[in-house]
Amino acid sequence: MFDTSLSDSAFDEQHLWHPYTSLPPTYPNLIIERAEGVYLHTQSGETLIDGMSSWWAAVHGYNHSALNDAVKNQLDNMAHVMFGGLTHKPAIELGKTLLSIVPKGLDAIFYADSGSIAVEVALKMALQYQLGCHHKNRKQIATTRSGYYGDTWHAMSICDPEAGMHSIYGKQLPIQLFVDAPTDGFDKPMSASSRQELEAFFVANHTKMAAFIIEPIVQGAGGMRFYNPEYLQLLRKLCDEYQVLLIADEIATGFGRTGAMFASEHANIVPDIMTVGKALTGGYMTFAATLCTRHVADTIASSDNPALMHGPTFMGNPLACAVANTSLQLMIEGDYPERARHIQVLLEKQLFALNTQTAVKEIRCLGAIGVIELFDSVNMPRFQQLLIKHKVWVRPFGRLVYIMPPIIMTDEEVTLLCERLSAVLTEYLEALS
Ligand SMILES: Cc1ncc(COP(=O)(O)O)c(C=O)c1O
Repeated sequence: MFDTSLSDSAFDEQHLWHPYTSLPPTYPNLIIERAEGVYLHTQSGETLIDGMSSWWAAVHGYNHSALNDAVKNQLDNMAHVMFGGLTHKPAIELGKTLLSIVPKGLDAIFYADSGSIAVEVALKMALQYQLGCHHKNRKQIATTRSGYYGDTWHAMSICDPEAGMHSIYGKQLPIQLFVDAPTDGFDKPMSASSRQELEAFFVANHTKMAAFIIEPIVQGAGGMRFYNPEYLQLLRKLCDEYQVLLIADEIATGFGRTGAMFASEHANIVPDIMTVGKALTGGYMTFAATLCTRHVADTIASSDNPALMHGPTFMGNPLACAVANTSLQLMIEGDYPERARHIQVLLEKQLFALNTQTAVKEIRCLGAIGVIELFDSVNMPRFQQLLIKHKVWVRPFGRLVYIMPPIIMTDEEVTLLCERLSAVLTEYLEALS
């Protein structure tokens, strides 16, 4: 039983865990009462402009009438039916829309209930595929350092082995194969040493590798770093040469965020398996998908174990499928990749001005992503106070202060967001000096 006299915030602090925090937390969570367009309204009366899209998801902003209608209409029909043995129009319609926009060649879809689960399913697909090819020793997953793929067990095993959650769960996690992350940045061609390192990695490890998984172009939660499309092209070539599946995790980068509908398009490659999530439902519901080529699906189907062994209770949830389908229509009609490219120009104009601060190590932008990397980690309690003071919502981690605003932000709102963030940073850094 809990103390019924507790205020809402005291109850939250004492009883509810939040992402990657202790209980009780070291500084309070803001209570959001309402969200509308690109603004979050707190219970205590502040209106904050949103720079996070709720972790890449709310690309259409909040309380969007078309998305609300999609959920309401579907709700009047059916909220959920099991996907085992049954199917429905929202799942089929969503499948058709997805296949019309993903890189050509991806052809079969597994609906998952979160990004991490979509990654687990991708890994299962890869292992079952290799069994189907009678490659019994190809059981490990290869990836780069500084990656992030989610918080479930196997997803954690491919996250960065030092900065990820290996340090806590290390020895219990499956052992995977890591190569250094590309460091060259988006605009610089891949260096000869990076090329040689990747080639040598495949030569040394390919007999053990079921798949190579990567976040295309942008390493997100592992460091918000961008890399050159040549890296992906070389990876595609090596995977083909050594019969290793290439998994592109587009959960963060998908649906226009980087200035292309999918970040793999920057390199003009088609992965064998691809995961999507986050913006898929516009932030309305937890939902994700794992897609693969017909060749991968057929190889699994013709193996000794033809069934793909995954099937969550809420697989293909009709509410999520309906809202996802409307979300995709909005992205297509609104040309979100083009909008993201436009936002990049605005971000660069505003954020590069912060380069004069000596505490700033680097500022980089790609599509609707702006990253300010500091030399030192941010003091979050202090930073959060300033965010509220200047009416803006961002959530730095470590040395990274970054924004990925809703794609529907107007030019004026992007400017306002950058101005407020600049004010926060300037005041924060002045107090340090
Ligand atoms: C690239 C990538 N993959 C997977 C995930 C995990 O998704 P979820 O949090 O929906 O489980 C994330 C989440 O941030 C991500 O950025």
